[in-house]
Amino acid sequence: PAGLGSGGDRVCFNLGRELYFYPGCCRRGSQRSIDLNKPIDKRIYKGTQPTCHDFNQFTAATETISLLVGFSAGQVQYLDLIKKDTSKLFNEERLIDKTKVTYLKWLPESESLFLASHASGHLYLYNVSHPCASAPPQYSLLKQGEGFSVYAAKSKAPRNPLAKWAVGEGPLNEFAFSPDGRHLACVSQDGCLRVFHFDSMLLRGLMKSYFGGLLCVCWSPDGRYVVTGGEDDLVTVWSFTEGRVVARGHGHKSWVNAVAFDPYTTRAEEVATAAGADGERSGEEEEEEEPEAAGTGSAGGAPLSPLPKAGSITYRFGSAGQDTQFCLWDLTEDVLYPGPVPRSRLDPAKVLGTALCPRIHEVPLLEPLVCKKIAQERLTVLLFLEDCIITACQEGLICTWARPGKAGISSQPGNSPSGTVV
Ligand SMILES: *[C@@H]1O[C@H](CO)[C@@H](O)[C@H](O)[C@H]1NC(C)=O
Repeated sequence: PAGLGSGGDRVCFNLGRELYFYPGCCRRGSQRSIDLNKPIDKRIYKGTQPTCHDFNQFTAATETISLLVGFSAGQVQYLDLIKKDTSKLFNEERLIDKTKVTYLKWLPESESLFLASHASGHLYLYNVSHPCASAPPQYSLLKQGEGFSVYAAKSKAPRNPLAKWAVGEGPLNEFAFSPDGRHLACVSQDGCLRVFHFDSMLLRGLMKSYFGGLLCVCWSPDGRYVVTGGEDDLVTVWSFTEGRVVARGHGHKSWVNAVAFDPYTTRAEEVATAAGADGERSGEEEEEEEPEAAGTGSAGGAPLSPLPKAGSITYRFGSAGQDTQFCLWDLTEDVLYPGPVPRSRLDPAKVLGTALCPRIHEVPLLEPLVCKKIAQERLTVLLFLEDCIITACQEGLICTWARPGKAGISSQPGNSPSGTVV
């Protein structure tokens, strides 16, 4: 599957056995799109496929851009796009885990620690400065709770991994740190979303899919909501602060592979502040919300939705699915605060109909603002950048979608980005 991520001014994607790097999409000033014809770097792997990657946003600078790449046979590579000869391989002998790396993330604001999740359902904590042990690691149980256990590595010398989490049943598909870095949301093939307080390793929240595995997860920019997508073809909005399912979204006709909040159109006062970096934005800019297909002939003319009322809390997120559809969703005040919450009696024998997994009619069912078939192959990647939205599909078709107002700024025809088969 194709994976794609952005690291400041650079965009990277993995496709098949290859890893490509491009200059970024949304640099201020001139460059507003990725020139997909001109990768700045390209790597081809033999024997194993890159499955995921993550830039270190915290240390990224002109003299260093460190990147982690996970592989189908379980290894993790550390490399630097600028400093050459710094590449390292972890789990090289596959003594730590033999299964596919499903997801990778640097710990927030860390230059050395990262987490890697595997199809085995395990999650490992690594320090890039430590070597891996030459024998299978030994662990001691640190903590155990419903559906998870945490182990510390026994090694006295500094060796990787430092710790191991066993989460749920079956593959751990994806995880995400809360914006404040304190909580970790994990989604697994067993259909559970589990939210941990990272330092104490305590389970702080649990949600169950309507059915099937959960495949993707993201946090709202203010850390109040977690959105998941999965094999139930739904997007599910779960309130972290209230510990309940707030709404489900029905629009996809197959699995939901990617979900992401759009921090640039999410309009909640606290959110705008929390989004940080580009805090000062004119109201005009925020009104640009239609992902307009440039060059693919499917650019729609009508606005996608009325703008949220000033002062009302609206979060916008997107989803991309196996059905090749890209959908946009709004979470408005009336959905978030519906008045008295209907609570069903908790029956531990049955999950459906409990707070863990309310019945369909027990929570608001969201309609997408828009749902559009934008590719021939299933979509696996969705990224909201300031000037554009990027989608990519299984076979590597990457599309950049200009936000309408932004495309208008650069008046040169032919300058607007288009989907290109790579
Ligand atoms: C990672 O390992 C290095 C070398 O042992 C050590 O100096 C550093 O403190 C470790 N980082 C963290 C965050 O533990």
